[in-house]
Amino acid sequence: MREWLAESRFDSGRTIYPIFVRPGTGSRETIASLPGFFRYSAEDGARHACEAHDAGVPAVLLFGLSHHKDPRGKEAYNRDGPVARCVRAIKRQRPTLVVITDVCLCAYTDHGHCGVWSNGQVDNDATLPILEKVAVAHAAAGADFVAPSAMMDHQVARLRAALDRAGYPETGIIGYSAKFASAFYGPFREAADSTPSEGDRRGYQLDPRNAREALREIEHDVAEGADLVLIKPALSSLDVLAKARERVHVPIVAYQVSGEYAMIHAAADRGWLDARAAALETLTAIHRAGADLIVTYFALSLARWEQERVD
Ligand code: PBG
Repeated sequence: MREWLAESRFDSGRTIYPIFVRPGTGSRETIASLPGFFRYSAEDGARHACEAHDAGVPAVLLFGLSHHKDPRGKEAYNRDGPVARCVRAIKRQRPTLVVITDVCLCAYTDHGHCGVWSNGQVDNDATLPILEKVAVAHAAAGADFVAPSAMMDHQVARLRAALDRAGYPETGIIGYSAKFASAFYGPFREAADSTPSEGDRRGYQLDPRNAREALREIEHDVAEGADLVLIKPALSSLDVLAKARERVHVPIVAYQVSGEYAMIHAAADRGWLDARAAALETLTAIHRAGADLIVTYFALSLARWEQERVD
């Protein structure tokens, strides 16, 4: 009866699974801060994505790494770079897997900021044309959605126009609309090798004290043409998720970020909590608060746990 009366349920059918791809071939590299995660070559990343899809994961979010960083992050729009190659390989093998690509420069710039860095701050308007090229390169490779996470103003409107001009009107945009400056991105920055070498991201990411500002950013992105909007970190933004759910009528994505995953993992390793129960409880809470879909490092585990229950 408890099951029958449950108001919300979360399952792997609503997850998005992050995958990191790096240049070159050869074996996968472990990521110490994200247990169970690896930096794959494009081909191995695609193979892993297929494996996840076969286990029940409906969507992946691809992050690229670069070995040739420069001040403007131009490797980000290399049409033969790891992200583009991985997208093509996935689409060849599993056309039903939804492929989303991260559009940002932080893994491609030598200073590690999400945009062009000049005089101690990010140059918003100089960054936009570069993000346009990245989005078009990913769309050309066959991405279903591009997800601009650089937090530049007007990035959604500019990408929409650029995609339309380039002949990709059907490539969707997931706006990282409310991305709070957060301590919980630490493990990701090790994974993507994207820690800023000077300064921090507070100049372009949202102040966690500001919920109204977050809602304003979400409304802007919807007006600029975002097909979905994303809020992160998830667990520390439940109020924003709930309010956004009432205000906008596009699907809302929450990102349970690397630090949220690492926290559960580290405690479970010490025997202080049960990873599976904690993962399910937090994901269900994020869904209950208003997220339709959740980007989570638990996506594949969740699919496998569900499989165990069926078997
Ligand atoms: C940067 C980006 C970040 C994440 C996704 N895209 C980190 C940052 O702003 O430093 C974090 C995701 C995570 O922590 O899992 N463009």
